[in-house]
Amino acid sequence: MKDRRKKNGVVSWSTFFLFTIVVFLSSIIFTALIFSSIYSFYIPHFHLPKTVFKWRTPTPPQITIRETVTLPDQVLIFLNYPLSFYHHTKNDLQCVYLSDDLAPQLTHEPIQLHSVRLHEQIVRCPMPPRGETVSLRIKSNITLQIKNSSIHNWDPLVYEALFDRDNTTIVFVKGLNLRPEKLSEPSRFQCVYGWDFTKPKFLFKSDVLSTAQEIIRCKTPPSILAQAQTHTQHEGFIKVSIQVEGKKIFPSIARPGIISLLKPPNRKPYELCICTMLRNQARFIKEWVMYHSKIGVERWFIYDNNSDDDIENVIAFLQSAGYNITWHLWAWVKTQEAGFAHCALRARASCEWVGFIDVDEFFNVKIKVDLRHVIWHYSNPEKKVAEIRTPCYSFGPSGLKDVPSEGVMMGYTCRLAGRERHKSIVRPDALNHTLINVVHHFHLKAPFVAVDVENGAMMINHYKYQVWKVFKEKFYRRVATYVADWQKEENVGSKDRVPGLGTKPIEPDDWSNRYCEVKDVSLRNWVLKNFKDKKTHLFPWQPGFELHLKKRQRQKEKGIL
Ligand SMILES: *[C@@H]1O[C@H](CO)[C@@H](O)[C@H](O)[C@H]1NC(C)=O
Ligand SMILES: *[C@@H]1O[C@H](CO)[C@@H](O)[C@H](O)[C@H]1NC(C)=O
Ligand SMILES: *[C@@H]1O[C@H](CO)[C@@H](O)[C@H](O)[C@H]1NC(C)=O
Ligand SMILES: *[C@@H]1O[C@H](CO)[C@@H](O)[C@H](O)[C@H]1NC(C)=O
Ligand SMILES: *[C@@H]1O[C@H](CO)[C@@H](O)[C@H](O)[C@H]1NC(C)=O
Ligand SMILES: *[C@@H]1O[C@H](CO)[C@@H](O)[C@H](O)[C@H]1NC(C)=O
Repeated sequence: MKDRRKKNGVVSWSTFFLFTIVVFLSSIIFTALIFSSIYSFYIPHFHLPKTVFKWRTPTPPQITIRETVTLPDQVLIFLNYPLSFYHHTKNDLQCVYLSDDLAPQLTHEPIQLHSVRLHEQIVRCPMPPRGETVSLRIKSNITLQIKNSSIHNWDPLVYEALFDRDNTTIVFVKGLNLRPEKLSEPSRFQCVYGWDFTKPKFLFKSDVLSTAQEIIRCKTPPSILAQAQTHTQHEGFIKVSIQVEGKKIFPSIARPGIISLLKPPNRKPYELCICTMLRNQARFIKEWVMYHSKIGVERWFIYDNNSDDDIENVIAFLQSAGYNITWHLWAWVKTQEAGFAHCALRARASCEWVGFIDVDEFFNVKIKVDLRHVIWHYSNPEKKVAEIRTPCYSFGPSGLKDVPSEGVMMGYTCRLAGRERHKSIVRPDALNHTLINVVHHFHLKAPFVAVDVENGAMMINHYKYQVWKVFKEKFYRRVATYVADWQKEENVGSKDRVPGLGTKPIEPDDWSNRYCEVKDVSLRNWVLKNFKDKKTHLFPWQPGFELHLKKRQRQKEKGIL
């Protein structure tokens, strides 16, 4: 066993500790050397030439490019900042495109900048021309260096990882191409931990416990676990990747994040949270958050697939208005299932229940109008209920041609009669270890079960077929791993597609009157009664409402002064 492991390039624990000590000692000696040279410079009788001192000066801390990942339509650049550095703004940085010849360098404004972990920023740049690589230039004159080994494609790639509280690591991988909803044989895989995967001497391997879809769960090696527990502020000190039997190690940018490793408190702070994934839906979020807050949702996790609309401002506004909502960049291609698993794990520490819905879906509660009442009603602990399923009904354009200014709940009032798939609210503590989920449904671990909400108690209004201007965006964006793109001529009869639409984004003549079988104003009436402002006749999510509020606030302040 030991021999086999050595051949795989694995060091034993004692070798590792020896190595650590050697590194530690040599760094002490190195520091001592530098200090002695500085010291000697200040002792007059040595008269060392100035150049010696200069030559020994360590390079000042710098911003460095840690990784770059090329997505189908843009490039992600991960920047590391030294401790005391302020993060740059969009105006400080330029994307620079480098070619092999010495042609003049093309530059471009970044699409967006995101500060993520403590010393890390992600810059999104437009795609480079074919054959060129992209780097960054700071304040128009310093171009950052890129190591060849830090340039990756989005597939294959290990792109995220989390330490779980049961001493395992969850690894998110693109490029395994495993079947949906099935377990794969874990012994074919190994997790690999290290700083540089091209140096097999300094890698640790560990056994895989489960493999399914795009998620691998493995044992966290004890030394790494110990570091993770003591160095929470240095989150992401080591990378993790995976290796399939007899193949090369997957490229990886994943430095495991730490989700609360502590045992959860007896009662979590929030009864109900929501995870969602979106792209360029900023104009719909306010209505969706404000409404769901009123019916009992307490916390929102937004997974953002590279939006370039105003989403950060909208989220900042909602936060300042007191909604507990956080934003996470989820840039990866067709990874909705993995993103939901990631979100469920993050939410688990603070949420008893988590709902997985899209921003065009609205819970329509018929009795007592509080989602938490529905949960309490159905979550019979003796029956081990850990998933509550709500049927969805698809609304059509309802005769409209333009985006309804009062919001989707007021605007769309005609729907199809038959229910479509349902959506789930789950107990994150009861999820199956594999984190398998398909179309918003997780597998539960035994002995937990799912229940269906009775007809008439609750439904989801899914504003699926909105006015054409909004709807046509769906053509360009299919997010689930196991779903074909609409523009491709495969699977044309699939349930995922829209009845009566081809593979081209061209508006049918009768679009605004389609998908209309049942007039349904139940949610509209409730919203009208509970949200419309008596004075302004506006809804709180309408743009004019904010201005009005500010005006009212100013008047109040003046009154006080
Ligand atoms: C970059 O430009 C600034 C001012 O424009 C200058 O002070 C600085 O020395 C320049 N740095 C380099 C490396 O050229
Ligand atoms: C480094 O980059 C060059 C192209 O710029 C490429 O041909 C080469 O394979 C790369 N080397 C490695 C080790 O990735
Ligand atoms: C995780 O490892 C620690 C020691 O590092 C141990 O005390 C603890 O019981 C382990 N937890 C589980 C769930 O195995
Ligand atoms: C939001 O929720 C998280 C738990 O998910 C909590 O730690 C945090 O303090 C909350 N923030 C606010 C502003 O309430
Ligand atoms: C993100 O958007 C891109 C481009 O529309 C798409 O290819 C990708 O599948 C999306 N990913 C997720 C997880 O939504
Ligand atoms: C988790 O799901 C797998 C595959 O669906 C199943 O074989 C296993 O029994 C489940 N685990 C538990 C604890 O129920």
